[in-house]
Amino acid sequence: MKKLLPKIGLGLVAAFVLIQVIRPAQTNPPVTGDLKAPPEVMRVLRKACYDCHSNETKWPWYAQVAPVSWLVTRDVNEGRKELNFSAWEGSEPGRKLKKLKEIGEEVGEGEMPMAIYPPLHPEAKLTDAEKTLIVEWSKQAP
Ligand code: HEC
Repeated sequence: MKKLLPKIGLGLVAAFVLIQVIRPAQTNPPVTGDLKAPPEVMRVLRKACYDCHSNETKWPWYAQVAPVSWLVTRDVNEGRKELNFSAWEGSEPGRKLKKLKEIGEEVGEGEMPMAIYPPLHPEAKLTDAEKTLIVEWSKQAP
């Protein structure tokens, strides 16, 4: 037992070093049609949503370290696929309407930003006033 523990420890360190080789691409593609909304709405969306729902992601240092990097990259890729504010202007009015409705629902129910996000980005923990602002904004005709 005395000899086994250091070996396990070394094995874990080696595994941690090895998985660093797998680096998913973390890209910020060009912004083609950034959302245009009132400044107070933009302020909330930028601080609470843009890291996952735009092409202006601020990739934090821990997003470079596997296995966290794999999870963060997956969230951003899936988030952009669902809703990308960087390609908002110029997208179909029907799609905008659908997305506005989803935004209202997700923010109203406290489902977005994703639960894992605010503890690491305290400014993204929305106040009731900020939630109401986004929900009211989402009711507009696109
Ligand atoms: C940490 C990353 C992250 C943040 C921050 C984030 N989202 Fe998301 N969002 C996702 C992911 C991943 C999905 C797709 C999977 C899902 O629906 O849970 C998603 C899905 C959505 C959807 C589509 C849901 C549906 O009905 O299919 C909407 C709308 C949305 N997010 C709005 C927002 C808004 C508004 C904010 C900011 C207040 C926000 N998100 C913040 C990661 C994020």
